[in-house]
Amino acid sequence: MCGIVGYVGPKSTLEVLLGGLRRLEYRGYDSAGVSVIAPGGHLETRKKAGKLDNLIAEIQANPLEQAHIGIGHTRWATHGAPTDGNAHPHLGGPESKLSLIHNGIIENFAELKAELLAEGTRFASQTDSEVAAHLIAREFAKVGDLPTAFAKVVNRLHGAFTILVIHEEQPDVVLAARRNAPLVIGLGDGENFLGSDVAAFVEHTKRAISVGQDEIVILRADSVEVRTFNGEVVHPDEFTVDWDASAASKGGWSSFMAKEIADQPQAVADTLMGRLESDGSVKLDEMDGLSIADIGAIDRIVMVACGTASYACDVAKYAIEKFARIPVQVELSHEFRYRDPIVTPNTLIVAVSQSGETMDTLMATRFAKEQGAKVLSICNTQGATLARESDAVIYTHAGPEVAVASTKALTAQITAGMLLALWLANGRAAAGRATIPAAELQRLGLELLKVPAKVSEVLDGLDLARKLGKDMANAKSVLFLGRNVGFPIAMEGALKLKELAYIHAEGFAAGELKHGPIALIEEGQPVIVIVPSLRDEESLHPKVISNIQEIKARGARVIAVAEEGDHQVADYAEHVIFVPQTENIFSPILTVIPLQAFALELSTAKGLDVDQPRNLAKSVTVE
Ligand code: G6P
Repeated sequence: MCGIVGYVGPKSTLEVLLGGLRRLEYRGYDSAGVSVIAPGGHLETRKKAGKLDNLIAEIQANPLEQAHIGIGHTRWATHGAPTDGNAHPHLGGPESKLSLIHNGIIENFAELKAELLAEGTRFASQTDSEVAAHLIAREFAKVGDLPTAFAKVVNRLHGAFTILVIHEEQPDVVLAARRNAPLVIGLGDGENFLGSDVAAFVEHTKRAISVGQDEIVILRADSVEVRTFNGEVVHPDEFTVDWDASAASKGGWSSFMAKEIADQPQAVADTLMGRLESDGSVKLDEMDGLSIADIGAIDRIVMVACGTASYACDVAKYAIEKFARIPVQVELSHEFRYRDPIVTPNTLIVAVSQSGETMDTLMATRFAKEQGAKVLSICNTQGATLARESDAVIYTHAGPEVAVASTKALTAQITAGMLLALWLANGRAAAGRATIPAAELQRLGLELLKVPAKVSEVLDGLDLARKLGKDMANAKSVLFLGRNVGFPIAMEGALKLKELAYIHAEGFAAGELKHGPIALIEEGQPVIVIVPSLRDEESLHPKVISNIQEIKARGARVIAVAEEGDHQVADYAEHVIFVPQTENIFSPILTVIPLQAFALELSTAKGLDVDQPRNLAKSVTVE
C-alpha cells in the first residue's frame, strides 16, 4: 500500500511529484523516492528511507535538474526492509535507463527473479518490484518500443500492482499498468498526471479518469491512451473531482487529524446535502442501480468493512433494523470472504470504505457479486475501485482524509448509514411493506438535518476531553464501555487510542461487563462510558448507570460521555463530557468526537506523530 504519482508537462516536475507525494504520504511513509528525465535525456533518481522530509533533505543536498517528466513513490514496505536501497524507484537494465515504481505485491516474483539471475542480472534491492524493472528493460532492448515491452511484461506478472515506468530512450512518455491496485489519471491542459488517488493531483486539475482493472495507460503531455492488457483501446469516462484542493492541506492546524476532527460539521452536512429535503424526506438519486423491486426483494443485508469503517456498519445496523426491519449482519471483510458465507441474489451487500481501495473489502464484494448479490458501497473517494465495482454508490462527502486514523470519514459514514436506513424504510413502504409510519420517518429526517449544527456544538465543548487526554498521558490502559449504538463507539474510542497512543485499550458492551471485563477493574483504572440518552425509549440509561456504579465500587476512574440535561450521571462519574441531545440512534455522530479529541491529545502529550502512527497505513491495499 504505497502511494504513486506520475507527471508529464511544462511545470516543475519535482514540485508536482513532491506535492503529490505529500498528499499521498498517508498511504505509506517508510521511504520515498523520485525519478525524473532531465532535459539532456538522462534519468536522475533520489530516494531515501524514512518520511518524505528525508527525501526532500536529500534533494536539497543533491539537487535534481529541472525536468518535465517524472515519477514519485511513497512506500509502506512489504518485500524488503524500509532502507534506502529498497526504496522506489528501482532502475532496470544494465545501464539503468529505466525507472519503475510499484504499489502492490508481485506474487510470482521469485520465479521471475530466478530467470533474471540465471542471465546474470544484478539486483540492487530485496524488493519484488525491481524484478519488473529489469524485465521491462530487457524486453525493451529486444523490441525497441516501450509500450509493447511494458504490455508484454505486465501480462506475465501475478498479484496486485500499479506500476509506473519511464525510460531515457522514450523521454516523453509515462507508462502505467493497473491490476488490483488503484490508479487514477488527472487530465490537464498540455500536461497530464497519474496518482494512486485524486489527492495526488487535485491541486492541479479536477478532471480525472479512473483506470480499470488490467489496463495500461500511455501518458504524454498532450495525449492519454488507455488500453487493456491485451492491447484493445478503451475509452473510459471522465469525471470531475469534487474535492477542494485546500481540503488536503493542514491549513494552519497542528495536524491533519486535528483539522479533520474540526471538518466534521461540514463533512456531515455535505453528506446530507441534496439527500435530505427540508421537510425531512430522503432522496438518494445515486441508488439508480438498485430499483424499488430490488429493495422489495432484499431479505438480508450484509455490511462489510475493515477498521473504523466496520464500526460505522455496526451503528448502521441498529438504524436499518429499526427503521427498515431488514436483518443486517456486520462482517469484517477478511473474515467474511474466507469462511464460505451464505450469500444469495436477495442479499444486499453494503461495503463501507473511506478509500474504496481496502483489498479485503474489495475481495469480499467481488466474492458476493459472484454469488449474484447486489453491491452498494458507501465510499469517500471518487474513482475508487470499490465505487467502480458496485451497483450503486453513496459517496460520503467528507473530503480528503489524510491522517491515518479515521475521524471525519467515520462520522460521514454513519451519516450515510442513517440516510440509507431511512431510504430503505421508504423503499419498503413504496413496495407495500411499510415498516414505520411515514410521519415518523419524516420526523427522523428532520432530526438528522439538525445533526451538523450539533456536531459544531460538540467541537466547541471539547476542552474537558482534551484536558483529560493530556492528564492521562501516562495511563497504561483505558477501557471503554457502551451499550446499543454506544457499543461500536466504545470500540472506536479504544481503536483510536491503540492506533495513536500505542496503549492497551478495549471497548466492551456494557451489558457484557459482568461476564468478564469487570475483572480488569482495579483502583484508578480509567473507564470511559458512553451513556445512552435519558429520554431513550428502550430504558438503557438506568442499566448503564448501574454499570458505572459497579465499576466505581471497584475503584475505576469513570469519565462519562452523556447527553446535555443528564443530571443523574454527574452523581456517579468523576467527569462528564456533555454532548447535545439528539435521537439516540444518531448520537454516535456526536459521542465519538470527544473520544477522537481525547486520543489526539493523549498521543500528542506523549510526543507521538498523530497523523502517521507507527506500523500503520491509511489504505491497506494488500490482503
Ligand atoms: C486502515 C486505516 C483505518 C481504516 C481502515 C479501513 O486500517 O488505518 O483508519 O478505518 O484501514 O479503511 P477504508 O479506506 O476501507 O475505510
